[in-house]
Amino acid sequence: MAGDPHLLVVMGFTGDLVRRKLLPALARLLDRGQWPPGSVLVGTSRDPGLDEARARELVAEALAEAGLAETTVRRFLEALPLAVHTVADGTTADYAALAGRLEAIEAERGLPGNRVFYLALPPQALAAAIAGLGQADLARSRGWTRVVVEKPFGHDLGSARRLNELVHHSYTEDQIYRIDHYLGKETVQNLLVFRFANPVFESLWNRDRVESVEITVAETLGIGRRASYYESAGVVRDMVQNHLLQLLALLAMEVPSAFDARAIRHEKVKVMSAIGPIGIRDLVYGQYSVGQVDGQVVPGYRQEPGVRPDSRTPTYVAMRVAVDNWRWQGVPFFLRTGKRLARQITQVAVVFKRAPVYIFAPYDECAIRRNVLFLTLQPDEGFDLHFQVKAPGSPFRTETQQLRFAYQEVFGPLPDAYETLLVDVFVGDQTLFVRADEVESAWALCGDFLDPPEDSPLHEYPAGSWGPAEARALPGAVGSYWHVR
Ligand code: BG6
Repeated sequence: MAGDPHLLVVMGFTGDLVRRKLLPALARLLDRGQWPPGSVLVGTSRDPGLDEARARELVAEALAEAGLAETTVRRFLEALPLAVHTVADGTTADYAALAGRLEAIEAERGLPGNRVFYLALPPQALAAAIAGLGQADLARSRGWTRVVVEKPFGHDLGSARRLNELVHHSYTEDQIYRIDHYLGKETVQNLLVFRFANPVFESLWNRDRVESVEITVAETLGIGRRASYYESAGVVRDMVQNHLLQLLALLAMEVPSAFDARAIRHEKVKVMSAIGPIGIRDLVYGQYSVGQVDGQVVPGYRQEPGVRPDSRTPTYVAMRVAVDNWRWQGVPFFLRTGKRLARQITQVAVVFKRAPVYIFAPYDECAIRRNVLFLTLQPDEGFDLHFQVKAPGSPFRTETQQLRFAYQEVFGPLPDAYETLLVDVFVGDQTLFVRADEVESAWALCGDFLDPPEDSPLHEYPAGSWGPAEARALPGAVGSYWHVR
């Protein structure tokens, strides 16, 4: 099911996200017949130099950079009706002109009036664009109208609330698609199937059996050329408020009453409301210094172009979170994420409780080992269940072995998150998008630690390491350690 033909209006067409993610995803969808035939792409930009010829060049460059086959690129450029519109000053007149232009394209192509406005805009441009669209009456049309908003949705709770109010002024919640691209990843969606289609695991998924849960999102990349954004964001706004809390919610939520947007989002909000206050003692902040990644010496954060030499922006955070509900009370959730870490990996480790009485202890030097379930979300997507076996022969000895499932070995390459999310926008399925109350709950949770308080330490860690040594104390306090390495 590909949905109805529509106008896809991409605002911020010359931006980095459109080039790296959106255009390659659209080309793949067109190739697979998943973009409704007859749809038209409209790019808008403030760049007066953007005309249709330049837009086509940008598309061709983006698709080549993404390594798409030449035939796919050619087909996309041939098949795709592409129009451009410049929103020079972002004034009411600009948006009125855009409205006129869209109607003209619809009339010319006999389109039914369905529209997607994809706001791929820098945060500071978002509010003005939403207001402009509303004033030009671009929230309604003859068909359906949907608006897609990229993250970050706000800078803190107050600004997210104001943005919600603004967008609700023109659009109803069922028209709004707030993106958290992690939700489009196959393996993130698989968390729901893994838990709720496999009673064997779900029956263990609680405080009776689980000792701790660990979520690691480690990146080897630095901040690249994004200093102007990152300096005012930092790791909590960039990764925790959205991606990590979404992962936590999917891991900890109760069974939804149905596999639909309303029920799933309801359960996610319930989990967030059960998270206890996160105090400064539950947090370790870090910032990378010069080090080696993949054999290359890379600069420290403060030496990155555009970063203040005395910047206190954290690029790493580790934290302990408590979910105070019937299922999870007393089970610590350890979260950590950072730039320039030792490995590029997103992984969850569910550490199960040890056997209550370990009858093999007298025979085995390493005595008690726990069962650990690793859910790898990227790369090498899949899961590993670590369990104990008797090593053959004598003396008597136990050894850890693994039960393994690897996604790509079975299913081949996985679709990119943006492909999944775009198809959902086209068909009107909001399950994988963040609801207004959800985004506000996540900001509320992070409110006290978005930035490290002046008097709290910001630990340096060398690029290419696993972050500050101080972070070991978090699982260490319950006699554990970080399992993902
Ligand atoms: C983005 C952050 O939302 O997610 C980036 O702004 C980060 O800083 C990226 O690098 C990570 O996404 P992925 O899909 O590469 O894990």
